[in-house]
Amino acid sequence: WLSGRVSAYLAAVRELASGWASEPVVVGTALVEGGMLLAQQRRYPAHHAGSWELPGGRVEPGEGEPDAVVRECREELATEVVPLERVGTDIPLSAESGMLLRVWRARLAVGAHPPVPVEHRALRWIGLSRLAGLEWLEADRLLLDSLRTIMVAE
Ligand code: C5P
Repeated sequence: WLSGRVSAYLAAVRELASGWASEPVVVGTALVEGGMLLAQQRRYPAHHAGSWELPGGRVEPGEGEPDAVVRECREELATEVVPLERVGTDIPLSAESGMLLRVWRARLAVGAHPPVPVEHRALRWIGLSRLAGLEWLEADRLLLDSLRTIMVAE
């Protein structure tokens, strides 16, 4: 009995420790409709204000990445999306933060409301020809080739 309890306890400790060891993840959403990609313009903090990014944010403890994509799009765009698959590679956000940006391709759910900028300054549907000209956050800019590929495939 005792050894069973001890090994259950050890398994619980191992599971907790693996959660602590993993890097915090920020999910981004590549929402593509009719070959256009949705970008949003930041309002804050000051050094990011005016720059454009994919909708998204930090994955909460115990939350799956697709669930985080759905939650962030509800919060930021007041709409429902369906995450489909990962796009591009993991992008380190900065050496100090140790955070990784992981982008998911998504579609609007059937019957979803058109996205609106809840927290951001503006939203824009971007076509291929204007993609590179936008002032993207550095991490998001690194994904432009991967984003182009899924826009062309639409
Ligand atoms: O949106 P939030 O402030 O939660 O994002 C956390 C961090 O992830 C910020 O440093 C932000 O600049 C970065 N980020 C990013 N690209 C995104 C979304 C967030 O670089 N598409």
